[in-house]
Amino acid sequence: MKQWWKEAVVYQIYTKSYYDTNGDGIGDLQGIIRKLDYIQSLGATVIWLNPIYKSPDVDNGYDISDYQNIDERYGTLSDFKELLSEVHKRGMRLIMDMVLNHTSDEHAWFQESRKSKDNPYRDFYIWRPEKNGKEPNNWGNYFYEGRGSAWEYDETTREYYLHNYSRKMPDLNWDNIELKKAMCRMMRWWLDLGVDGFRMDAINRLVKPRGLPDSPNPPTPPVGIHGYVVDRTMCANRPGIHELLHELNEEVFSRYDIMVVGETGNVNAAIAMDYVQEEREEIDMVFHFEIAKNPVLVNAVQFKEIQRRWYHVIEQHGWITQYLSNHDTPRQVSWFGDDKEYRYESATMLAALMHTHPGTVYIYQGEEIGMTNVDFPSIEYYNEKYTVGKYQTMVESGVDPETALNSLKRTSRDNDRTPMQWNSREHAGFTSGTPWMHVNPNYPEINTESEEHAEKSVLRFYRTLIAMRKEHPIMVYGTYRQILEEEEHLIIYERAYQDEKWLIICNFYGRQEKLPEVAAAAIDTPEKKLLLSNYHNVEEETLIRPYETRIYRIR
Ligand code: NOJ
Repeated sequence: MKQWWKEAVVYQIYTKSYYDTNGDGIGDLQGIIRKLDYIQSLGATVIWLNPIYKSPDVDNGYDISDYQNIDERYGTLSDFKELLSEVHKRGMRLIMDMVLNHTSDEHAWFQESRKSKDNPYRDFYIWRPEKNGKEPNNWGNYFYEGRGSAWEYDETTREYYLHNYSRKMPDLNWDNIELKKAMCRMMRWWLDLGVDGFRMDAINRLVKPRGLPDSPNPPTPPVGIHGYVVDRTMCANRPGIHELLHELNEEVFSRYDIMVVGETGNVNAAIAMDYVQEEREEIDMVFHFEIAKNPVLVNAVQFKEIQRRWYHVIEQHGWITQYLSNHDTPRQVSWFGDDKEYRYESATMLAALMHTHPGTVYIYQGEEIGMTNVDFPSIEYYNEKYTVGKYQTMVESGVDPETALNSLKRTSRDNDRTPMQWNSREHAGFTSGTPWMHVNPNYPEINTESEEHAEKSVLRFYRTLIAMRKEHPIMVYGTYRQILEEEEHLIIYERAYQDEKWLIICNFYGRQEKLPEVAAAAIDTPEKKLLLSNYHNVEEETLIRPYETRIYRIR
């Protein structure tokens, strides 16, 4: 069934790093308003904002202390309303990040909850007494914080509370009916304001395993975390999660014309099916971690295998997402491509790969100008919880600091969080003050202004691709069939819709390849038309140059 959100090209904005208008070094909502024409010129149809709610900011806003207020660093509620109305005026939509798994410990609910065991808010969170003089179970927190446990002891009531992330981010207890009601009211409040949907943080982790058992896995190295087990499967996809999402759908989502995309770690296509099949009435699509957040770089054959499995979700009345980076990943051109010699070629090939695969496309700010990973000289430059926590734990366990840093650099989430590079002026034109985080030193070369005029422009390539997606329903609704699944370097596939058929060729690597026979035969037709390529001209049809991409119409 056709849906606006299937056709969407979503542009993700990490407000803190986007554009600062008041000189405090932090991006703000007025900054986004100023850049809306730019976003519109890109062709994006939906904006996804990372959390902008009131927050002590230990995890860049994922620790919310008030769900119905904007953090003053970003602006006010009236700025938000202005933004929303400006977005809508331009015919675009806006979705919010919605964090339901945890709050900040500074949220009023937690402040109440910790006061006494019989406080009405006590059960909004997950409290347990000690077990044999220790934490209630062996779970480790995902941020490697402190000594590593996912439990924090609270003196006032002499019990532990669960925090899968930071100790300043206590997990919520979704068995509590009052909590559920409060969350539904809160989400409806945003939707009544006019927002067009949600990106649901860690949504498959809301229901915890009955009895909160120990993880059966061995303690996670490094030893600095004192024997706790960082086991993200413990809280993923537990019995009860589907009933809960169905209920949220009934109570909230289904009452509006919105899109809901869930962030779901520890999910493969088979598991995802149960979240996104239309008839189950839960959510519309999920972000999986099999490609972008896979700690191991996937190769072309694996990429194809993963895409085949996920396409099956669409065949079974579900929907999927296509993305290669977000605020939790390295920069895609650095991770999957070549950010030096073939920066333009690989950035554009990856863009074509995403936009011509079935699924809703997500672009992370800066990706559209080929922004790259950053190579900071020391840990002081890094900010995000996971990199800093893991670094400290490693160093405490005796790993040499340089080795520890080098092991984290390539995958650090800070790679994607450096300020947006607007121009070649100081701080990349991001702020007139001191940026909250160092700008990537390559900004004089890589920025939106230079991309406007560059001969080889990643930005213009994105604009073309997105415009094509609007013009050609085949890119959204066409069937998908890979050619030569086991070919190790080239990703070749057909899309077909009504009378039309396309053949797309992407060289996943920086080496020239010979086009295999079957693919050469497929484009050997008089009806063939080359619709887009990232090289000026096709010199020899059967030679595919480094990171080359070609989109052909063959029927
Ligand atoms: C996933 C978010 O994308 C990430 O940035 C955050 O740290 C965790 N969830 C916790 O909310």
